[in-house]
Amino acid sequence: MFIPASASSIDRRAFLALAGLASTLVLTRPLGAMASARDSTRRFELIARPVQAPLLGHVRPPVAAWGYGAGVPGPEIRLRQGERLRVEVVNRLPQETTVHWHGLRVPNAMDGVPHLTQPPIAPGQRFVYEFDVPDAGTYWYHPHHRSAEQVGRGLYGPLIVEEPEPLAVDRDLTWMLDDWRLTKQGQISETFEHPHDMSHGGQVGNLVTINGVDRSAFALRSGERVRLRLINAANARLFALQFSGHRPTVVALDGQPVTPHEPADGRVVLGPAMRVDLILDAVGKPGQRHTVRDTFYPRLQYDLLELVYEATPLRARPLETPVQLPANPLAEPDLGGAKTHEIRFQGGMMGTLAGATLNGRPMNMRQLMGRGKAWAVNGVVADGHMHEPVLTLERGRSYVIALRNDTRWHHPIHLHGHSFRVIRRNGQPTRHREWQDTVLMAPDEGVDIAFVADNPGDWMLHCHILEHQSGGMMSVIRVA
Ligand code: C2O
Ligand code: CU
Repeated sequence: MFIPASASSIDRRAFLALAGLASTLVLTRPLGAMASARDSTRRFELIARPVQAPLLGHVRPPVAAWGYGAGVPGPEIRLRQGERLRVEVVNRLPQETTVHWHGLRVPNAMDGVPHLTQPPIAPGQRFVYEFDVPDAGTYWYHPHHRSAEQVGRGLYGPLIVEEPEPLAVDRDLTWMLDDWRLTKQGQISETFEHPHDMSHGGQVGNLVTINGVDRSAFALRSGERVRLRLINAANARLFALQFSGHRPTVVALDGQPVTPHEPADGRVVLGPAMRVDLILDAVGKPGQRHTVRDTFYPRLQYDLLELVYEATPLRARPLETPVQLPANPLAEPDLGGAKTHEIRFQGGMMGTLAGATLNGRPMNMRQLMGRGKAWAVNGVVADGHMHEPVLTLERGRSYVIALRNDTRWHHPIHLHGHSFRVIRRNGQPTRHREWQDTVLMAPDEGVDIAFVADNPGDWMLHCHILEHQSGGMMSVIRVA
């Protein structure tokens, strides 16, 4: 399944040339050693371009998609905590693009938001992103320009930052989940930002892929321990995965370590853009099969795949070594001294929003719908990425932001440039005070988050259901 680095790593090519090796068996590790012996910058090249993606496996015709390099997902960018990342992005798409490093605390100018933090990269042009990577964990990259279309066509890839001492596991794997809306002819439906999807739950597709392929089985060996990094790259689909016969342990959320725990009701819930790192202990017996079922939408439940046990066990019982990850260097918010602000998310079908302001003009819901909009943040509908900030925060101070979902829909709300603690849901303290960069709000839910505003710049705050984002559910928080 995994991700040919061939088209994408300048370093690797340089290394192969240096070493006089032609073998493709030389993968990232020797390269990594090489890179860090020289300096601690990891170099990659991402070429955004049309690709043929075998979403349905190699016996069915491929799907015309967009990808970074050779296919979907883009190459895994993997580096170690504290290293510097340098990525040269080449745009061979028929439209402008940018790359956003979702969840990484980067300097504002490297955040990949068109117009707000950089001019978009024109077709045929390049842009170099370079920054230090302070936090270990599971992240991803994707365009921030016309995201509903560009991410919807397959532009995304995993970005893994290794801890200095990784957890002891037998395999460290990433499942990048996505869904696609394919036509009867098996090609990507071009109905991006359809008004019905936009004003309801977003574009939920009809094909679910893992790492770019519709797969039905995942092989396991009795007794093995797998670190499974789940990334939801779908435009709008939420997942709630249930691993029958298994009790996976959540060890990180949105890349950030959390007290190891079993997910509530045994359901691993991921809104768009969210990540969950699981420790999956293979407690089944050789020859057994167990389903992984997605139960998020009660009327759209389906089996994602089967865990299939191989004939030979790896060991008699899974490992019992600790699975607590070391904390990342995040500033702890001072809740006593924190200022509180409220941000309300509004609109959508079956909601109460009568009207809101678009480009300075008050409009009713019908007028907004006529302009492809249905959502607002504190009464303002976003159009493009340039906004008057909804809040201006003082650099270095602690804040509590009371996020309020005044709609009948789920929203995964993402803040750029920071991770925040989720401290309360509907007034009740959360059990794990988890660090996240994308927090899922249920309909009518209120979620309080807290963080130190320590990264200067203008940062997007938006719903990561991409049709909601383009439909107006987006704003800017300034840290000055
Ligand atoms: Cu994953 Cu504003 O983005
Ligand atoms: Cu939303």
